[in-house]
Amino acid sequence: HEEFTKVKNIATIELGRYEIETWYFSPFPPEYNDCLKLYFCEFCLNFMKRKEQLQRHMRKCDLKHPPGDEIYRSGTLSMFEVDGKKNKVYGQNLCYLAKLFLDHKTLYYDVDLFLFYILCECDERGCHMVGYFSKEKHSEESYNLACILTLPPYQRKGYGKFLIAFSYELSKKEGKVGTPERPLSDLGLLSYRGYWTRVLLDILKKHKGNISIKELSDMTAIKAEDILSTLQSLELIQYRKGQHVICADPKVLDRHLKAAGRGGLEVDVSKLIWTPYK
Ligand code: COA
Ligand code: NA
Repeated sequence: HEEFTKVKNIATIELGRYEIETWYFSPFPPEYNDCLKLYFCEFCLNFMKRKEQLQRHMRKCDLKHPPGDEIYRSGTLSMFEVDGKKNKVYGQNLCYLAKLFLDHKTLYYDVDLFLFYILCECDERGCHMVGYFSKEKHSEESYNLACILTLPPYQRKGYGKFLIAFSYELSKKEGKVGTPERPLSDLGLLSYRGYWTRVLLDILKKHKGNISIKELSDMTAIKAEDILSTLQSLELIQYRKGQHVICADPKVLDRHLKAAGRGGLEVDVSKLIWTPYK
């Protein structure tokens, strides 16, 4: 693809309270070619060339949260589901914004086919996006997540693992297993490995007796291949008497759990009000 070789154009963006340095090229329309900085409305994600334009826009824009349905609320944390078909411009704006922090993902201009899950921190001024993930409405490869992003000012606080956990909670409600679209970035893989390790080892620790990959998959909605690769990378799969078995020595599990980092923010499933897309 042509866009891979292009150099970074937009150097910084303003979004809500933050000025954020960008990481990668994003294919904004040609009229933005001469811009080093873009000003985003943090609610509708329209972007502008000048601060005065944004200020004028903010006086008129009546959104105080992403468009779409609030499907989760716990404390100050909210999740909104945005249908790319019903909110095309928002979906496209989000893709332009996200590409600034995503290296190898192709931008989907066909936002119709996607749902966007926007995670927000809410206060009296409104619901401020901290990150999101996108999901195909119908995936033949059983993808339950296409792109995932935590905006840089909010990174390394557990929101990424929250978004990942949320994507699996949706899969559980659908009664399906899921897996993220490949390729994953280095940071994406680290986050997934951490999530998978924590979820699987927590179960192995509590479980008495034998457990199969299939059972783990049914319990977690994590695809069997991802379970196997996680356990293999932790060297927890052994070959005994002609069979693959999961080693569940509590001391070994604890050591891996410690290395897997913090658990991230918990998804409180009782606060999720959602029916699968039909
Ligand atoms: N250096 C080292 N490890 C890191 C890291 C960094 N800069 N950022 C995340 N990790 C690892 C850590 O293991 C971390 O767990 P820990 O903090 O308990 O040690 C784990 O990933 C997840 O951290 P978390 O705070 O839950 O994630 P996040 O909110 O920072 O979001 C991403 C993770 C991947 C969504 C975020 O880095 C991002 O948006 N990156 C740019 C877009 C991208 O690459 N997306 C994936 C493409 S498919
Ligand atoms: Na994608």
